[in-house]
Amino acid sequence: MTHVDLRPFDDDDADAVFEMMRDPDAVAQAAFTADDPSDRAAFDAWLERHRADDRVSMFVVTDDGGFAGTAAAFTVDGDREVTFWITRHAQSRGVASAALRLLVAREAERPLYARVAADNAASIAVLTKNGFSEIRRQRAPTPPRVAPRSTNSCSPSRPRSTGSDRTSLQATSPAGLREGR
Ligand SMILES: CC(C)(COP(=O)(O)OP(=O)(O)OC[C@H]1O[C@@H](n2cnc3c(N)ncnc32)[C@H](O)[C@@H]1OP(=O)(O)O)[C@@H](O)C(=O)NCCC(=O)NCCS
Repeated sequence: MTHVDLRPFDDDDADAVFEMMRDPDAVAQAAFTADDPSDRAAFDAWLERHRADDRVSMFVVTDDGGFAGTAAAFTVDGDREVTFWITRHAQSRGVASAALRLLVAREAERPLYARVAADNAASIAVLTKNGFSEIRRQRAPTPPRVAPRSTNSCSPSRPRSTGSDRTSLQATSPAGLREGR
């Protein structure tokens, strides 16, 4: 693995993030996706909303200085959640694991939560390596029920599936511990 770091989001990062978040393979993995991942106007509005929200800490993940993805923490219904997304060319090299470790170290609040698709084994592995453990498994709710909640978060606008065959998994860090150090 190369040198992974977090830096503040910059206007010039928008194109790379847009491309990353509409990669069909990534969209199939993620727990939350945009209604239309190729809708640039909707993406820009989503990005602007979250950059203006002081409850959202949004970072660009860098790998040897180059763009490698995003990592963020945000508050939903009083819970502090983390999320991460690594661009295709940087995957499977420990980048998400290192980025989450850095993000957890920057976040003062405990416990931290994360929600992932239950079949996203790589994402679950990243969380587990950083001290998170599963606390709940639930079927993906339908978009109308979760839309108000998730549009307030750093996650894109809806769960990726409305089907009853999908489950999502909620993980939490142990209370009072500083994981990933
Ligand atoms: C999921 C994702 C974050 C992983 O990023 P990454 O940088 O490749 O992850 P890392 O290399 O740090 O670690 C991946 C771990 O998953 C493991 N893994 C990968 N595929 C796996 C599988 N099918 N089953 C079990 N473990 C798997 C790897 O072995 C690795 O663990 P290890 O380091 O102990 O060997 C990345 O693929 C991604 O961003 N995908 C699209 C969006 C997404 O799913 N975001 C997640 C939050 S919604």
